[in-house]
Parts: sequence; structure tokens; C-alpha cells
Amino acid sequence: MSLLRVQGLTAGYGGAPVLSDVDFEVRAGTVLAVLGANGAGKTTLLRSVSGLLKPTAGTVSFDGCDLRGVRVEHLVRRGLAHVPEGRGIVAELTVAENLRLGGLWRADRDAVRADLDEVYGLFPALAARRGHAGHQLSGGERQMLALGRALMARPRLLLVDEPSLGLAPKAVAQVMAILRHLRDTTGLAVLLVEQNVRSALAVADEAVVLALGRIAAAGPAAALRDDTALRHAYLGF
Ligand SMILES: Nc1ncnc2c1ncn2[C@@H]1O[C@H](COP(=O)(O)OP(=O)(O)O)[C@@H](O)[C@H]1O
Ligand SMILES: [Mg+2]
Repeated sequence: MSLLRVQGLTAGYGGAPVLSDVDFEVRAGTVLAVLGANGAGKTTLLRSVSGLLKPTAGTVSFDGCDLRGVRVEHLVRRGLAHVPEGRGIVAELTVAENLRLGGLWRADRDAVRADLDEVYGLFPALAARRGHAGHQLSGGERQMLALGRALMARPRLLLVDEPSLGLAPKAVAQVMAILRHLRDTTGLAVLLVEQNVRSALAVADEAVVLALGRIAAAGPAAALRDDTALRHAYLGF
């Protein structure tokens, strides 16, 4: 069952195409890694999926519904949450306030409180710092806060842009372990954009390689990991 289906996606800025004819699918309960060098178009791809950028051609459908013209706040209600590059938490607000923002639109207040406890259970470091402002957190804690905030919306699909960027190896491992845990225990699907290829392939079920805005390779993560020629050509290891 594919939860997200992207077909013929073409997008760019001011008429200059960045993505050309991109096709892929994310099945429910799986992690798809989007790999590629800096400038390949990974962030542009996530922004096109979440509607922040209007594609010039192609379709994006989520759970069978065409997302064209759907307002960003409605995407969240449908179960799609985006953790942007640079994380997008509110530095002046506390950890608790940032997390509550993630569940703001929800009417089920009791469930929101329960989910808040669940997020603190997933990220004990956040529980210990719930009264601290965003700007007081370490890079790893900010990334966890951004993920926690997205989870407060109860997504079925999480779009995550370079969660490992700027983090120490231990924090990267923690973030990847959380994504794996969420997939395995709650059936969350993840579209994981990463330059940290090894970490991403260790979590992902499937992967696509983006090069100059086109899909250069696609397949099971294990197959990409084992393809020496492909790794050398596109993945730099
Ligand atoms: N807001 C923007 N305006 C114009 N060009 C942009 C903008 N954002 C990104 N680009 C260009 O689009 C290309 C892909 O960028 P991006 O999607 O950020 O790549 P990645 O996330 O893979 O590093 C780059 O050439 C970049 O310079
Ligand atoms: Mg990027």
C-alpha cells in the first residue's frame, strides 16, 4: 500500500527547474531515504511534497488524495508532518510550549496530554528540560524537539530534512533509533532526506538517489548499500 505517491514531479524557483520528472512512492509503515549531494534538490523535493513550493508539473498524492491546492495546515490534519531543514522550532518558547504548538489544531485535548507524555518518554532529555527555552538546547536536543513537535500532530507520514546535520555521532544514532522505533511500533512512514548516507541506509527500507534533480537510482536500501559502483558514483563511500 503506497501512502505517498509522487509522479512526474517537476519544480524549481523562478522558472529554473531544480527537480525534473521525479517518481517515487512511500509505503505505509516504511522509511524511504532520499540521498544525494548538497544541492541535488532534496529540500526542494520535501518542500514540493508538503506544498510549501508549488510544483510546475506532476502529482503528489497522499493516501489516495491529490494534494494539489490543499492548504499546508490541512495537510497536518490529514497526517502529514514536515520537520524542515534547520528544524524550525521556536527558540524563544520553552520545550513544553513548542511541543504543545505541534498539537495545537487537535480537538482531542486529553489525547494531546497523553501524547505529550509519550513524547517525553521517547525523548527523556526533553522531559528533563521541559521548562528550558529552545535556544538553551543543544543541537541534538533541538532536533529531538523538532521531531517531538511533529509527532504531537499524530502524523502517518513524517517528512524529515537532514536530521543528522550538525549533530555529534551519538545524537545522530539516537535520532535514527527513534525513527526506527516509531516505524516498528506505530507504523509511522518516514520520508528521510539525508546526506549522511550510512546512517540513513541503516534505517531505511527503500532509498532513492537524487542527482541534479533527477532520480539516479532507486531500490531496497540493502541493495543500494551493497552496490559498490553506485556508492562510489553517487554516495561518496
Ligand atoms: N529559495 C531558492 N531560490 C532559488 N534557488 C534555490 C532556492 N533553494 C534552493 N535553490 C537551488 O536549488 C538547488 C537545489 O537545492 P536544495 O533543494 O536545497 O538541495 P539539497 O537540499 O539537496 O541540498 C540548488 O541549486 C539551490 O541553489
Ligand atoms: Mg537540503
